[in-house]
Amino acid sequence: MKTLIEPFKIKMVEPISQTTEKQREKFLKEADYNPFLIRAENILLDFLTDSGTGAMSDRQWAAMITGDEAYAGSKSFYNFESVVKKITGFKHIIPTHQGRAAEKILFANTVKKGDMVPNNTHFDTTRANVEYNDAEAVDLVIAEGKQPALVHPFKGNIDLEKLEAFLKKNHKKSPVGMMTVTNNSGGGQPVSMENLRKASAIYRKYKVPFFIDACRFAENAYFIKIREKGYEKKSVLEIAQEMFSYADGCTMSAKKDGMVNIGGFLAMNDDSLAANCRNLLILTEGFPSYGGLAGRDLDALAVGLMEALDEEYLRYRIRTAEYMGEQLLAAGIGIIRPTGGHAVYIDAKSVYPHIPPHQYPGQVLVCELYKKGGIRGVEIGSVMFGKKDKKTGKEIPAAMELVRLAFPRRVYTQSHFDYAVEAIIETFECRKKAKGLKIVWEPPFLRHFTAKFAPVG
Ligand code: F0G
Repeated sequence: MKTLIEPFKIKMVEPISQTTEKQREKFLKEADYNPFLIRAENILLDFLTDSGTGAMSDRQWAAMITGDEAYAGSKSFYNFESVVKKITGFKHIIPTHQGRAAEKILFANTVKKGDMVPNNTHFDTTRANVEYNDAEAVDLVIAEGKQPALVHPFKGNIDLEKLEAFLKKNHKKSPVGMMTVTNNSGGGQPVSMENLRKASAIYRKYKVPFFIDACRFAENAYFIKIREKGYEKKSVLEIAQEMFSYADGCTMSAKKDGMVNIGGFLAMNDDSLAANCRNLLILTEGFPSYGGLAGRDLDALAVGLMEALDEEYLRYRIRTAEYMGEQLLAAGIGIIRPTGGHAVYIDAKSVYPHIPPHQYPGQVLVCELYKKGGIRGVEIGSVMFGKKDKKTGKEIPAAMELVRLAFPRRVYTQSHFDYAVEAIIETFECRKKAKGLKIVWEPPFLRHFTAKFAPVG
């Protein structure tokens, strides 16, 4: 059959509130043109993030009912631990309430002032947690990974020559090295097994412990299966196991490929590092057998991790982004190619060539998409990454002006995506009328969450 269907049926439904374009104009104005500040009940299709927004399965809900809420040593913890061990093979499994908590605990116990952490591309919270310890987060993704329109099967790969040169010079200052799978900040692009294996050999040569940021490990493993020679016949679980076998540990936001609304973990082989991490965990998250989660959350996660490795599910998941991407490209809309695992990234510079970076074309597109179709995406451009020149105070724009439409797992159907495509194309057709935005208020850090905007002139 040519038609690929959602590999699930719906047992519980949540209404979507319908709003008119006129109402949405009012909501947008009230939110100072920052869709983070719009009430979710006024959003039709919410593509703000794929993090913690997925739908749990009947088996996950059933597992929650049998959750064991013992403070220490609960059955739920052992269910969770055995599944994570089966997939990752790591010796110590430490639950946390989400990904950034695992990062905080790892970096607080490894990096110090003046250190450097290499990665393909650090996600914002990873970078912030490295910098919080006065260390530097260094991105070494391959050059192809920075060119939106260029098609390459593994745009998340790290530049192995750069990594070798970097560690030759800095290995004494690098207490940990990382690789983010898939590379979210670069467009949800996968890392090949060959690249993981070779990066691991370089990290080992310089005795730098290697940690995987594993948020979207299952999507990455599926890309390896369909794109890398020699992996066609392996199961996605076997591929994931091999990926983790090259590392010494991982951080995980289970809000992505853990298929849960909250949860995460830190895993590693090193006994003394694990003991230090557990000590800090007790201070900040909770006892090592629950780490800030309820027993029932750990049970839902144990089931969710295995469901994320289901190949029928992954086929539908990856195809969804591809399906949307193909239609946008056919309409002449610039996107990051190929489409990644969890999102489609629109190149707002190509949509609004008449809007300069300091009038935030990505933010304009986010607002126009909401107005036209009630769709919420997120700007990944000069609002999020623009920096102020320390001398002149002038803003240095980001390298790319992107809008990310990230897809919650198992939430929307094909007709939702058809509707989204129609709304994006209609917005594109009105592109010449769009006007820039200016910032009228901003906080000192992470301004994209709360900044206030107004239309220019
Ligand atoms: N690493 C990556 C690659 C991520 O994408 C995220 C979260 C984190 C770490 C942190 O995990 O949110 O559980 O603390 N990404 C979300 C997003 C927020 O929208 O891309 P967390």
